[in-house]
Amino acid sequence: MRSFRDFMESALYDPERGYYSLRDKSADFYTAPELHAAFGSVLADRLAVLLEKIRPEGPLSLVEAGCGDGTLACQVARRLREKYPGLAARISFILVERGRKDLTTAARRLNAFGVKVTAYTEIAKIPQFSGVLYSNELLDALPVHLLESRGGEIKEVFVDESGREILAPLSRPELAGPAAALTSLSDGERHAVSLEARAWIASAASKVKEGFIVSIDYGKRFAAGTPNPPRAFHRHAIETELTREPGAQDLTASVDFEAVIAAGADAKLELVSFNTLSKFMIDGGLLAWLEAAAGDDSAAYRERAKLKTLIHPEGMGEVFKVLIQRKEK
Ligand SMILES: C[S@@+](CC[C@H](N)C(=O)[O-])C[C@H]1O[C@@H](n2cnc3c(N)ncnc32)[C@H](O)[C@@H]1O
Repeated sequence: MRSFRDFMESALYDPERGYYSLRDKSADFYTAPELHAAFGSVLADRLAVLLEKIRPEGPLSLVEAGCGDGTLACQVARRLREKYPGLAARISFILVERGRKDLTTAARRLNAFGVKVTAYTEIAKIPQFSGVLYSNELLDALPVHLLESRGGEIKEVFVDESGREILAPLSRPELAGPAAALTSLSDGERHAVSLEARAWIASAASKVKEGFIVSIDYGKRFAAGTPNPPRAFHRHAIETELTREPGAQDLTASVDFEAVIAAGADAKLELVSFNTLSKFMIDGGLLAWLEAAAGDDSAAYRERAKLKTLIHPEGMGEVFKVLIQRKEK
């Protein structure tokens, strides 16, 4: 019997049968940079503003964590090269991606932009830097412990060999604090606790000498005690059984940004802003992209539909958030 966290880790990342080893891109979900290059372009503009705040001279790094095959990094590099050539010349890229195949692809694609690139499989291995570390949909892809209210007690969900879920006492002492906050869950309600996201932000903060961490993901600042059940996605639909066909479906949980902000504060990260993706994109000029896609033909219509998904409440606009944290020297 394994904790749900260990089940999720192997269902997503087993080198042969894990979801990310087998993923057919766009079959179950697409990410914002896979949807439209405007995402990376708007992000690059904001990264440029943040980089300019750091210091007038000296080397600067842009770190992308969980970079996948490098689609977003290339959008960022292209925009920086076109719009901020002076700044772009000072920047080196650091890519972090646990999937070695994707990491190699990302580094190769980014090299084509003539930027200096180094690549790592873990955040813990990267050197300290001044600059900005950003990620898109990394935190939601980290395995979570799963707690459930049952008979007036908070139990942890485990999974046996046949995929059956079993409730048992907490596997880790660090879960006691989050479990104690869940007293208002109704019987049978569940809450995903990402110890991994808390540890990740602390590790990321330890690498920043001076600069910012930008985390884009779906989730919210969960009020204490509210449910946050994980979800399984298969062919763009939500599956009800989390443990069915491990490796064939994406498993994910909304990011508890309240926990990430608190863990960041413990690691000397100051909260700069927390906004919806919709606000981030509109403030960053998405409407100009929409105007540029004017036209009555079906290609223009499709283009506008993709751009609107980035801001629409039923698309990514309200569910996705952009968290910016700062570390001062
Ligand atoms: C949902 S995908 C997002 C990919 C890309 N950022 C995008 O927006 O298209 C999550 C990525 O994070 C990677 N990942 C998961 N845990 C990681 C970790 N601890 N360190 C680095 N990468 C990780 C996965 O392998 C996967 O490529």
